[in-house]
Amino acid sequence: MLEATLRARAKTLVTASGRSNVPPFMVMDVMAAAARIEASGSHVIHMEVGQPSASAPKAAISAAHAALEIARLDYTSALGIPSLRERIARHYHETYGCAVDAERIVITTGSSGAFILAFLAMFEPGDRVAVTVPGYPPYRHILTALGCEPVLIETSSENRHALTGEALLAEHRKRPLKGVLVGSPANPTGTMMSRQALTSLISAAESAGIRFISDEIYHGLDYAFAATTAAELSPHALVINSFSKYFCMTGWRVGWMVVPEPLVRPIERLQQNLAISVPTLSQIAAEAAFEGGQEMEAVKHGYEENRRVLIEGLPQAGLDKFLPTDGAFYLYADVSAFTSDSLDFAKKMLEQAHVAATPGIDFDPVGGHRFIRFSYARSVEEMREAVVRIARWLG
Ligand SMILES: Cc1ncc(COP(=O)(O)O)c(C=O)c1O
Repeated sequence: MLEATLRARAKTLVTASGRSNVPPFMVMDVMAAAARIEASGSHVIHMEVGQPSASAPKAAISAAHAALEIARLDYTSALGIPSLRERIARHYHETYGCAVDAERIVITTGSSGAFILAFLAMFEPGDRVAVTVPGYPPYRHILTALGCEPVLIETSSENRHALTGEALLAEHRKRPLKGVLVGSPANPTGTMMSRQALTSLISAAESAGIRFISDEIYHGLDYAFAATTAAELSPHALVINSFSKYFCMTGWRVGWMVVPEPLVRPIERLQQNLAISVPTLSQIAAEAAFEGGQEMEAVKHGYEENRRVLIEGLPQAGLDKFLPTDGAFYLYADVSAFTSDSLDFAKKMLEQAHVAATPGIDFDPVGGHRFIRFSYARSVEEMREAVVRIARWLG
């Protein structure tokens, strides 16, 4: 009897909080199903995972080896190793011709860690923050977990799937927004905002007192036109970036922010308390990664070739409707001619054609049942084979 009471009590003590009740990533289910097929001896082409198959720049790996040989790996300053912050500031000058003070650069545990710091520093619980759909799911899930309200604004093909100032202000008039977050190049769509679209969105947001966050994690992977950084357009914008994608360093967990000056000290205090600092070895490797420019450009050319194979091959295979493939390594295909359930479509394509892709519902709970996201971050041979398999399967 006593035991039953204790067990019942223990259950109430270990109930998960409401805020932890965020949805899972469907892509994980696709990956698990792909692993089962592979375990039975078949070859699956992985186009579900948004991560490069190339490895980190050689210079980054050598720097990490050297650091392990000689250095104690102490905590670093909460804002990051000063020489890395300087190097990133130089990157803004070299890449965009824009002056950014190294004092405004903050090193983070991937861009994922940056979202938490940025949201905590910029918003109060209950604040409404606009994000676009389709969009990267953790934007809205992290906001929810922190007690903010993600406000989903749909984008459309008329504006190349870019959020417009008008759409933002229309939502703001319904109930005031405190912030807005956009990504360009975007996940899952692969679309990019033109310089003009980004400029007018930032100016609309700032004129209405809406704080602007720019996720620039796919910068460097732009094919249609050069990406513009929000750091160049406004000192009030908060910019997030990472070594995960262009530099192929997903598992090193290192990213950065360019922070408006008044937020530097609050973010430093948050970082001191939440993480103390970002892993030292990863910061050392990240600084050296900038020496791997040529290597990374070769990887990028590989993506360009993959993109060409898909843009030419998928329409012949039957998938002829997709969004502009401007950047990142994603192609967002409309599969509504075949299904009204993209999860089921992805499952069947995996089981029958052995091509793994991500159902759109991961990124858009409303319209995503019509879409599939293909990631083209692997070899060109695999892309060619994927096109052949899909053509056979749909044909
Ligand atoms: C749009 C976007 N932002 C942020 C991230 C998080 O990347 P990381 O934490 O590795 O920097 C991802 C990862 O896929 C992404 O697609």
